[in-house]
Amino acid sequence: MIFDTHAHYDDAAFDQDRDALLQGMKEQGVGQIVDIGADIASTERAVALSGQYPFVYAAAGVHPSETAGLTEEDMDFLCRIAKKDKVVAIGEIGLDYHYDEPDKEIQQKWFRRQLDLAKQLGLPVVIHSREAAQDTLSIMREEQAKKAGGVIHCFSYGWDMAQCYLDMGFYLGVGGVVTFKNGRKLKEVVEKAPIERLVLETDAPYLAPEPFRGKRNQSAYLSYVAEQIAALKDMTAEEVIRVTGENARAMYRIQD
Ligand code: NI
Repeated sequence: MIFDTHAHYDDAAFDQDRDALLQGMKEQGVGQIVDIGADIASTERAVALSGQYPFVYAAAGVHPSETAGLTEEDMDFLCRIAKKDKVVAIGEIGLDYHYDEPDKEIQQKWFRRQLDLAKQLGLPVVIHSREAAQDTLSIMREEQAKKAGGVIHCFSYGWDMAQCYLDMGFYLGVGGVVTFKNGRKLKEVVEKAPIERLVLETDAPYLAPEPFRGKRNQSAYLSYVAEQIAALKDMTAEEVIRVTGENARAMYRIQD
């Protein structure tokens, strides 16, 4: 069964058919999903979904683009909600320098603060890093993120950077981009990285794989991602789904 390590089913893009879609997941070969918080409100929604569906888990965290205006009270809230049974990670957290806002200093402050929270709680982290390769790595080293472990979600850097994260014990999240014609850099990383360190992720509703590129993404489409990874690594798609599922359960420390 497919393990989708990163989805946003709490997003408004699923308001029309969320329940029908999630109820149909098992039939489509999807076994487990982690719904990832992007801010305080979406963390609450993610945790609510995890209470509603036995196969849905949640991550609690604030995305770097949403860090302006965060307070220590918000951190207290995250700390409390992250102690719930089905919260399996702190995320998504990190740095995103694609847009000018919020200031780098603000993003860095709350990235460090949430890494700290993860270590306190003994939870892995889900890292979002976009156009911020060096700063992300430096902060993770300084804050000893290795102790938390986790995943570099939607991995978008080259093989050199991939090796740094693999050395720190992190997993690399691979999704729809690996099926894109212009996804050559990620294809190279997937070829070279051990399959034991890759996990599948949709980032739904975003980043649907070919042949659905540009449409709303959902977890069942990960079969196309698994096929692409299988072709790159000379495996079967079934093996890719099985191994990445084991990886995901180990990473999020999920028993069943
Ligand atoms: Ni995401």
